[in-house]
Amino acid sequence: MIAIASDQGGYALKQDIMKHLDERGLAYKDYGCYSEASVDYPIYARKVTDAITGGECDRGILICGTGIGISITANKVKGIRAALCTDCFMAEATRLHNDANILALGGRVVGPGLALKIVDTFLDTPFSNEERHKRRISMVEE
Ligand code: RB5
Repeated sequence: MIAIASDQGGYALKQDIMKHLDERGLAYKDYGCYSEASVDYPIYARKVTDAITGGECDRGILICGTGIGISITANKVKGIRAALCTDCFMAEATRLHNDANILALGGRVVGPGLALKIVDTFLDTPFSNEERHKRRISMVEE
């Protein structure tokens, strides 16, 4: 199950991504926000990190205007590896190397066409499971 949330800066892109997930038949839970009214992105970051650390969801997608504030917030939580990606190379590498469990996007940075490709790359790329990457992730989690 994918947890998805945004602030108002990511609201429009979240709508596009949810439509895309529907078309792909991928299950997700929308944790808000539910309009373009101004909200505080840390609230929405925390909803998705709680869903992952609580075991309700195994992947997350977080979107704010830049992707920066919402990823900074998510990465405060132990066990969360949120990767802000602006291209498919980053999305692939962060799954292969970092086993990132949250994709962060900037709704005012990437257009919907690129964002959907980034989402697909993130969701479809498995962790490499290579020893050196497992070791480094353990070091991050210490
Ligand atoms: C909201 O205006 C904006 O600050 C937020 O979406 C995000 O870009 C913060 O990092």
